[in-house]
Amino acid sequence: MARILGVTAPEREYVIHMAAHLLDTLAPADLAEGGDTPGGFVVVTNAPLAPLYGERLAARLGAALIVVPEGEAHKTLETVARVYDGLIAAKADRHTTLIALGGGVVGDMAGFAAASYMRGIRFVQAPTSLLAMVDSSVGGKVGVDLPQGKNLVGAFYPPHRVVIDPAVLATLPDREWRCGMAEILKHGLIAAPDLFARIEADPAAFTRFTNADLAEALVARAVQVKIDVVEADPYEHGVRAHLNLGHTFGHAIERVTAYAVPHGEAVGLGLIAAAHLSAALGLCAPALVERVRAAVGGVGLPTHFAGHRPADVVAAMATDKKFAAGSSRFVVMHDVGHVAIARDVPTEAVEAAVAALAL
Ligand SMILES: NC(=O)c1ccc[n+]([C@@H]2O[C@H](COP(=O)([O-])OP(=O)(O)OC[C@H]3O[C@@H](n4cnc5c(N)ncnc54)[C@H](O)[C@@H]3O)[C@@H](O)[C@H]2O)c1
Ligand SMILES: [Zn+2]
Repeated sequence: MARILGVTAPEREYVIHMAAHLLDTLAPADLAEGGDTPGGFVVVTNAPLAPLYGERLAARLGAALIVVPEGEAHKTLETVARVYDGLIAAKADRHTTLIALGGGVVGDMAGFAAASYMRGIRFVQAPTSLLAMVDSSVGGKVGVDLPQGKNLVGAFYPPHRVVIDPAVLATLPDREWRCGMAEILKHGLIAAPDLFARIEADPAAFTRFTNADLAEALVARAVQVKIDVVEADPYEHGVRAHLNLGHTFGHAIERVTAYAVPHGEAVGLGLIAAAHLSAALGLCAPALVERVRAAVGGVGLPTHFAGHRPADVVAAMATDKKFAAGSSRFVVMHDVGHVAIARDVPTEAVEAAVAALAL
């Protein structure tokens, strides 16, 4: 079943087009906006995805293909410069459409190239990871890392279109699927009790990709949460901060483990810690902690984190740019689908929430 979801951003309105095997049928006319005839296309993807999907898509669209190295370590200005070189070589001009085909790393990096090349060219997100489909491809944040920290350079540059082919999730490694599930559980906890309940009822069905229809329904519901939040607060002055649920804990866990714990697994742990904190502050029923832990563990994500002093984990939060800006600000839960920002949270309560992950 094909679905079209609309997104209103301050810069433009765009659609998210979802359908299984969409990438096998995508034609230039599908990427035109309101009667506008696009110029040429350039597909940016990474080395493993090029033979899987990139070469075929580029051939179908008559597009140049720019292949970048795989991995977060290459979400850099150096890789952006390689994309500029490829755009110049392809004679890309202001009418060219850049298609970012890949996970969040390719989407963020290539999006930044699209935002800056000739002061901005048409940009299509073709997310291929579960995380990118429900999170990074929507909302307009693009950018790269610096040696000094993640996502330190970037822009708000919404795509002109998002094309989601849930069938490509068949080749996504299971561990990456589960990392995407952490963000989907987060979206459920923020604003979609129906989504959370659906996963909670049969978490084993969500431990890996099984079929494109189920994946499409899951992505469609989860991405709607992101759409609603970014439409309400495109530049993160208010409710967009809710998307950081579990992330202050999660980023600290990533840092103290020198990124040995991948982001999605750290977010899963962070959701449990956020539930602990919320219960300890008397903001939610203690039973919510168990519900969150059961859902995180049920989809196959780790629920246990030990071997690091809670004080060290809390110290690692101080270098979080969003945390530092907000003076001990945490996204807390009142219930499934109801979150809020708590300020000036006592350090002891935060440490206790981290310590509870080791029990
Ligand atoms: N812009 C935003 O709002 C936003 C939001 C959340 C995360 N992010 C960023 O997203 C990045 C993480 O994204 P990610 O989790 O997608 O990581 P990723 O882009 O590194 O992809 C994960 C891995 O899966 C592979 N892969 C992706 N799709 C595949 C497929 N269909 N088949 C086989 N392999 C596939 C990739 O090659 C990579 O090895 C981070 O850099 C993060 O900062 C951005
Ligand atoms: Zn995240």
